[in-house]
Amino acid sequence: MQKFEDWTSAKTLLCPSILSSDLSDLSSEIERLNGNYDMLHCDVMDGSFVPLITFGSQMVEQISKKIDKPLDVHLMVKNPEEQVQHFSDAGICSLVFHREASLHPQRLLNEIRSLGCYAGLSLNPATPLADVKYLLADLDMLLLMTVNPGFGGQQYLKLMTDKIRDARAMIDDSGYSVRLQVDGGISRNNLAEVMRAGADMVVSGSAIFSADDPGLEAKAFQTEMRKLDRELKRV
Ligand code: DX5
Ligand code: ZN
Repeated sequence: MQKFEDWTSAKTLLCPSILSSDLSDLSSEIERLNGNYDMLHCDVMDGSFVPLITFGSQMVEQISKKIDKPLDVHLMVKNPEEQVQHFSDAGICSLVFHREASLHPQRLLNEIRSLGCYAGLSLNPATPLADVKYLLADLDMLLLMTVNPGFGGQQYLKLMTDKIRDARAMIDDSGYSVRLQVDGGISRNNLAEVMRAGADMVVSGSAIFSADDPGLEAKAFQTEMRKLDRELKRV
């Protein structure tokens, strides 16, 4: 796993999603970020759990060799248990799979940890928090989808703000140290809303990569995040 000290800090992490970048020229797209981010979010889609197909562990491994930032992999695939070894071999930092795609999530979370990655579980908007309540001890990250997964550029589902707040309370009450990531429709317009509700990892795809200068946009995200981190007394 790539070493990543900020994971255990209180700082909110910015994770640009390469799904919204020009995948045929990925190296240049990543360079355009100018290092103004914490982790690179890689959306793996299998054409079955979600309609599109993106890329797999071999491409992720090539990316991890090229950049010195940690990779955050979001598996939107059926049978995620068949993939975890390949992705951990690819040199990633965190690996997230969907609760809806797994019959034995606790076993898989522990396998991911034993392979040296942070283990995450993702919930579709309609999946209740009760489905992860008894897994908090086995989790390093809970990813709340704030759109239905499958496509970049969708609109943030307003109802998810309450879910983020409830998830934050559930995690805090449990006493376990679990990062809370949000993914889908996040821009600087609703960044404060999701962070104040309790998110401490923010994925953003189209808002960053469709900006004229993705590096500047990512920098603006980070500036706003530091301000909110101070307001929320995280740092
Ligand atoms: C959607 C993906 C997201 C997507 C976010 O299924 O999991 O990571 O890239 O893109 P935006 O920020 O455009 O909604
Ligand atoms: Zn994602």
